[in-house]
Amino acid sequence: MCVRSIGLSGVPGTGKSALAARLSELLGFTVVELSEFAVRNNYVIAYDSSRKSFIIDEDRLSKAVKELANSQGPLIIVGHYVEIVPGDVLELVIVLRRNPIELLHILEQRGWDNRKIAENIEAELLGVCTINAIEELGEDMVIEVDATAKKLEGLATDVLDIIFGEKPIYYGSSIDWLEKLDKEQLSHILSYIEKNLIQD
Ligand SMILES: Nc1ncnc2c1ncn2[C@@H]1O[C@H](COP(=O)(O)OP(=O)(O)O)[C@@H](O)[C@H]1O
Ligand SMILES: [Mg+2]
Repeated sequence: MCVRSIGLSGVPGTGKSALAARLSELLGFTVVELSEFAVRNNYVIAYDSSRKSFIIDEDRLSKAVKELANSQGPLIIVGHYVEIVPGDVLELVIVLRRNPIELLHILEQRGWDNRKIAENIEAELLGVCTINAIEELGEDMVIEVDATAKKLEGLATDVLDIIFGEKPIYYGSSIDWLEKLDKEQLSHILSYIEKNLIQD
């Protein structure tokens, strides 16, 4: 059994929060949603009104999460920038991936504006969460799991198998949508991004 915390990353809509809640039931670890935890404790630098989001004080957030893990024991730490948490707190980081076509539908259901959806679809297409986690923590801490068309229970089992070492593990980047999507899907996704992504 792992004694360090599990990091859960992935772009919004990949299913992190749902999976974290289920893993928390199965493992007994407390869930820390980084953005929620940061806002609740005021680890915030400013509010970006154009993006309708807080700019997080990553240093203070990172220290507070480390202290919480030291006092409470292993956590499930959730956020698309989970790599701000010091590596010695983490057992590993699971990056949830989801087919951009499916992700587009989920984000549309959230009622987000097209630009925000396009930014996140692009991030998923390119595997940005994985790249960022590897850059900060190293490849041997990062494992991608494809959540596409998987029920929550199956997904939770997959992750438990990884944590308990019961499945071969492929570290680092292993999912490439540019390769996996067929021509029509790729063209749909690329034209959505092109149409809705405003260059700053
Ligand atoms: N395994 C799954 N299969 C299908 N839908 C899911 C699954 N996990 C989550 N969802 C749904 O997808 C949406 C995004 O899930 P959520 O857990 O909020 O993702 P995140 O925390 O990464 O933004 C929610 O509407 C949720 O009900
Ligand atoms: Mg969430």
